[in-house]
Amino acid sequence: MEVQDPTKTSGVRNKTDLAEAIQKLKKEKNAVILAHYYQDEAIQEVADYLGDSLYLAQQAAKVDHDIIVFAGVHFMAETAKIINPNKKVLLPDLKAGCSLADSCPPEDFAAFKAKHPKAMVVSYINCSAEVKTLSDLVCTSSNAKKIIESIPKDQEIIFAPDKNLGAYLNKETGRKMILWEGSCIVHEAFSFDKIVQLVKDYPKAKFIAHPESESPVLEIAHYIGSTSGLLAFVQKDDAQEYIVATEAGILHEMQKRCPQKTFIPAPVEDDTCACSECAFMKMNTLEKLYRCLKEETPEILMDSKLMDAARLPIERMFKLS
Ligand code: 13P
Ligand code: SF4
Repeated sequence: MEVQDPTKTSGVRNKTDLAEAIQKLKKEKNAVILAHYYQDEAIQEVADYLGDSLYLAQQAAKVDHDIIVFAGVHFMAETAKIINPNKKVLLPDLKAGCSLADSCPPEDFAAFKAKHPKAMVVSYINCSAEVKTLSDLVCTSSNAKKIIESIPKDQEIIFAPDKNLGAYLNKETGRKMILWEGSCIVHEAFSFDKIVQLVKDYPKAKFIAHPESESPVLEIAHYIGSTSGLLAFVQKDDAQEYIVATEAGILHEMQKRCPQKTFIPAPVEDDTCACSECAFMKMNTLEKLYRCLKEETPEILMDSKLMDAARLPIERMFKLS
């Protein structure tokens, strides 16, 4: 039976109809939806797999569907394609980029790397496929410490592109990695002063943060972790209130798993913006997801040599994870 287009039926544009149509299309087309915690709540609800960057990359390597719809940003869908060169990988909005990936243009990074010929390169998965080809190892925020610690202590390392995660890892591992000066606009938007005030206003709350945040913010955190790390922490910890410094989308799953607890998004510097929401992640909507599944576009298309070269550091990461 052909799935009716709910965006064309007399004013029927509600999320329930779209979600039902997405479920039907998924079965019809043998498609799977992978979604990051930073996606819109309605997208999180239709996902087959919901998780952080590492979990989603691992699932992308396991699924046997013909089509992967990646509800996340471009570098994530690109990684799924690199792992599955023969599958169709769709991204609801091709413009869903990442400020962190954009902060590391491959030509500039190649020149930077050339200045440190003895250094190994570890790159955070939030980078382009081209930067991955210039890397020995890829990591995510979940496994970064383990990946760095797998490298002999006397080996010089370049870490790119996130200077905040890099500085945090230097502190955690005692290394002096050479850092590329990139950052994430969402995690750099948090206001240290306002967080300090909020912690005073909620003395029983614990403050938890993603390691893409700036050092002063991380220094006052009770717990620092990737999105899945933060989620696991709030489930096992006995506090009832948390101030959360990462993209606000994660609060949906936190609230679902801990309905009796209170989660407060960490305040940002500029009160007039929704800066704790990633504008790139939020470019994907349920309607765009529906359309992309129905029309099987936009698709991630990549050069096979680029994919082959970028796959090596990703596979090394999987082996070490
Ligand atoms: P994780 O998924 O590793 O927590 O990283 C968060 C992020 O910024 C993804 O863009
Ligand atoms: Fe990139 Fe930051 Fe958005 Fe993650 S939250 S996709 S790192 S801009």
